[in-house]
Order: sequence, then C-alpha cells, then structure tokens
Amino acid sequence: MSKKVLVIYYSQSGQLADIVDCLTAPLVEAGASIEKVAIQPVKAYPFPWSAERFYSVMPDCVLGVTAELEPFTLKEQAYDLIVLGYQAWFLYPSIPVNSLLHHPAFLAVVKDTPVMTVTGARNMWLNTFLEVKKTLQKAGARLVGNIALIDRHLNHISFVTIFHWLLRGKKDRYLNIFPYPGVSAADIAHCKVFGALLLPHLLTDQWDGLQEELIRQKAVNTRYPLLLLESKAIPTYVVWANFIVKKKKRRQWLAVFKYYLLFSLFVAAPVILAVDAVLIRPFSSKRINAKKQYYLSLN
Ligand SMILES: Cc1cc2nc3c(=O)[nH]c(=O)nc-3n(C[C@H](O)[C@H](O)[C@H](O)COP(=O)(O)O)c2cc1C
Repeated sequence: MSKKVLVIYYSQSGQLADIVDCLTAPLVEAGASIEKVAIQPVKAYPFPWSAERFYSVMPDCVLGVTAELEPFTLKEQAYDLIVLGYQAWFLYPSIPVNSLLHHPAFLAVVKDTPVMTVTGARNMWLNTFLEVKKTLQKAGARLVGNIALIDRHLNHISFVTIFHWLLRGKKDRYLNIFPYPGVSAADIAHCKVFGALLLPHLLTDQWDGLQEELIRQKAVNTRYPLLLLESKAIPTYVVWANFIVKKKKRRQWLAVFKYYLLFSLFVAAPVILAVDAVLIRPFSSKRINAKKQYYLSLN
C-alpha cells in the first residue's frame, strides 16, 4: 500500500503514545507508511509534575500562549492522512499541542489534508476539541474523524487518581484502593477497532461516514453532566487566567485558583448537577441532544 500517514502528537506519560500506536496498528499491518513524530517543547514540562508547576500552566493554556518546539523534520511534503494526538490542559489544548497547531511546518503540511484527531483525556475534552477544530479549519485542513477517550470513573474519583498519577508519575492505583487513573488499558487496546474502521477510508480516500462509524463504535465519549460542568467552568477559567496574568504575585493567586478548583469540584459541581437534574434536564432533552450532537460532529 502506498498510503502515507503522519502521526504527530505530544505525550508526557506515554498514554497518548499508546493510544496512537493502537489506533495505527491496523494501518501498519496493512502496509501503510507510518511516520510518527512525538513533538517536544524546547523548555520541557518535566513529568511527573509538582503541584505548583501543574497549576502554573493554567493561564498560558487558557490564553493560548505558544512555546518554542524542538525542531522536527517531516519526511514528506504531503500525506494521505494526518493523525493528530492532542490533550486537554485546563480545558484548552496543551501548550505543546497549541504550539504545534501554529507551527509553520505543521501548517504547511496540514492544508487540504484529511486529519483525524485523537485525545486521551481525564473527562473534559469538549472545549479543547472545539479549539483544535477551529485552528485546523483555519489552516485549511479537512477534519475527517475525532476519537475522544476518557477515564470512565466518577468525576471525583478520576480527579483524585489523576493527581496521584501526574504528581507521582506512575499510572498505578492510589493506596491500592482507588481504580487505575486515566484511560483504561482495555479502552486503549480497543483503538485497534477504530484503526480498522479507518483503513478502508484511507485506501479509497473517501472519508464520508467515518465519523458516524466511530460514533457507533463509541469512539467519542460525551456525557451530559460533564458537558454541563465543563460549559460552566470555561468562562470562569478565562476570567481567572486574565486576572492572574496581570498580577505580580502570580504564585499566590495560582494557589487561590487551586482552592477555587477544589471548591468548584467538591461543592459547586454537585449543587449545579442537582439543580439541573430537577429544574432543567427533564425539560430540555431536545436542547441537550443538540448540544451533544454539536460536540460529536466535525463541522
Ligand atoms: C496540566 C494538565 C491539565 C490537564 N487538564 C485536563 C482537562 O482540563 N481535562 C481533561 O480531561 N484532562 C486534563 N488533563 C489530563 C490530560 O488531558 C491527559 O489525559 C494526561 O495528561 C495524560 O496525557 P499524556 O499522554 O500527555 O501523558 C490535564 C493534564 C495536565 C498535565
């Protein structure tokens, strides 16, 4: 098979690297030429994180600040498909991915090219996808599919376990009581099924219907309570980011933001969800379905 596929992504822990490996395994088996590029910022974000460093990137993520990337070479000038691995950081594209989305080498190759996006998130990836989609559309790319894997555990549980993982660097069980953090091994392995769906579209260069097939195979996870909480959180993050960047005592304000985050998760979120479940959700099924559809669609 003479198809050329570029797989380009950033991954700190290796989770997204495993996801794109599983996704592209059927393409490799079919003989496609796969070029994998793992981008790196010049000023690395060391993994595991310290709590202070973790919160410190929030304003730049939300405000779309880019960082310089280590030079990378692309073997081809044009590809039949680009698989872009992206991750959410504070509800926005991670700084390395946002930097890639604005990088001249990437912009040159992505124009008029089918692009499949894939993320492995905790559970709030919707706004990040919108931002990625917007930037790809501006660059003239043709978005043909999106895969969004999440940690399927309860929001509070995954919040605890992701911190255990990101601050200690091990994707193991906190206190041997909590479940494994992040996207499950089974969900990662299942990406081969999505890769198999992708293959005939790559071979024929006919991309219509791929996203519908992916949705049927549950490749995109949208849950209304998470959608609701994320939509409430975004404007507050924007206010916080704009406020904190103007402050001289940035560290102190980031510490306040940390407590705000804990308050919103453990106090505000249950109240918002309870009020919504009683007063809004029962009367808004049409609107909710339309919203879900919006996040599932590629347009
Ligand atoms: C600074 C930071 C912020 C994050 N914010 C979010 C978020 O807003 N929503 C979400 O679902 N996951 C969030 N995550 C989890 C990542 O999207 C991702 O699942 C995790 O970092 C593992 O990806 P990796 O392959 O890059 O290691 C965040 C992770 C980091 C490090």
